Amino acid sequence: MLPKRRRVRVENSGGAVPPSTPPLVLFPGVAIYLAEPRMGRSRRAFLTRLALSKGFRVLDFYSSEVTHVVMEQTSVKEAICWQEHMAAALPCCPRPALLDISWFTESMAAGQPVSVEDRHRLEVVEPKNEPPSPLWVSIYACQRPTPLTHHNTILSEALETLAEAAGFEGSEGRLLSFRRAASVLRALPCPVTSLSQLQGLPHFGEHSSRVVQELLEHGVCEEVERVRCSERYQTMKLFTQIFGVGVKTANRWYQEGLRTLDDLRGQPQRLTKQQKAGLQHHQDLNTPVGRPDAEALQQLVEAVVVQALPGATVTLTGGFRRGKLQGHDVDFLITHPEEGQEEGLLPRVVCCLQSKGLILYHQHHASHLGSPTQLTRRSHTLDAFERSFCIFRLPQSPGAVLGGVLKPCSAWKAVRVDLVVAPISQFPFALLGWTGSQVGYVLLRLPGPGWANHTEGSYFPQLFERELRRYSRKEKGLCLNSHGLFDPVQKTFFHVVSEEDIFRHLGLKYLPPEQRNA
Ligand code: UTP
Ligand code: MN
Repeated sequence: MLPKRRRVRVENSGGAVPPSTPPLVLFPGVAIYLAEPRMGRSRRAFLTRLALSKGFRVLDFYSSEVTHVVMEQTSVKEAICWQEHMAAALPCCPRPALLDISWFTESMAAGQPVSVEDRHRLEVVEPKNEPPSPLWVSIYACQRPTPLTHHNTILSEALETLAEAAGFEGSEGRLLSFRRAASVLRALPCPVTSLSQLQGLPHFGEHSSRVVQELLEHGVCEEVERVRCSERYQTMKLFTQIFGVGVKTANRWYQEGLRTLDDLRGQPQRLTKQQKAGLQHHQDLNTPVGRPDAEALQQLVEAVVVQALPGATVTLTGGFRRGKLQGHDVDFLITHPEEGQEEGLLPRVVCCLQSKGLILYHQHHASHLGSPTQLTRRSHTLDAFERSFCIFRLPQSPGAVLGGVLKPCSAWKAVRVDLVVAPISQFPFALLGWTGSQVGYVLLRLPGPGWANHTEGSYFPQLFERELRRYSRKEKGLCLNSHGLFDPVQKTFFHVVSEEDIFRHLGLKYLPPEQRNA
């Protein structure tokens, strides 16, 4: 009887096997044909020996048995041509894969046939004409997660610019259309590469689609560039970024020919106390606040709040709660687990912060919670919580606060801080409202005088909030604001203890703050 090794060789020896080196076939499913045209005879012989030594089966002649045709330095065109020629000679022969030498060398290196990848193939790749698959998102921003970073920044920023410019012209309808379209782009799971993908998406009207099309085709949108460069847009942006200035005031100043911060400084009699403070600290207030600053402020505020009312809590809300690393201000929500205990707390807190030298400016607003219409008010009115709009003097070096008091000559930075107080029964609604989503430079981004006293139009909640309220009203017939959730038919309020409860009552999947960046 033959030894085992020998028997295998005999059984599998094909036409290519030189009798002097009977090969061991380890991969019977693979039969290689090394096509000669550019390979040259000696190279072919060398490669054949190499493959045989590693247990591959190499056929000397092209036949129906061949599974892998390997070519070297051959263009796709030549390869196809060669194959046509072979097919004409052997019409019944199946067409094996035409492979570049890379498949062969990789297989030799691996000691076994590697799987055939596209990069190995010598084939004309048919250009894929099929359009990228259409995209889909839910209609309301509160029904879909919107992360902080997304795939369509250039497109959404362009639409945001147009939204902002529409806001500067007092056109709320256009502002919302552009903003909703921008928000849809933020929620998409992949980049938009073709206009056809927008077809099934909500809130994409003719105008927003045109902007996207221009950006996809040319990389810029003429209208957006024109707006960005315009004196009107730049001046309105400059003015509305001042603490205490809303669109209405900015527009009046613009109409009167004012253009720069120095123009405003030259007319102090026209400025409110708040605007003066805003101008005075303009540079600091327009430098983004980082998370470490927000955390340092939380510690300062918490220490004072807890000292003034043990058990009271301070929650960082706004953009920082949504995971942003920077913000234009820092928003804190204060409450106490026992309803009513929070009353009268804020003036004590601000007074104490002032005595420590930590407050540069503050404006207190009393609570309107007593007013009977407050809790059932429509969505875009200012909420009624007691609050203080402050500018803090934030120490910039760790040891700057000595015994709780700011050392007189230490470095500091002016930071806008909103302190808001909510009774515990309304806390989840207040938290949901103040976590919001800031989608750029809003019509009334900074709380101007109008923001507080309604002389400059009504207050606009950020998009996530706005959409949540719209959804509640239109889809559920319920009235939601930062104070509660009201059923106008039953004339009842829902009792909740958490944000999750609110989502549940509205029949919505809970979205954590980081997914509310609509
Ligand atoms: P901000 O304007 O501070 O936005 O409002 P932001 O998301 O924190 O963004 P940056 O980083 O500071 O620029 C914070 C939230 O407070 C809500 C707004 O809806 C917003 O979501 N808010 C504001 C209320 O709920 N009620 C108000 O009366 C005022
Ligand atoms: Mn904020």
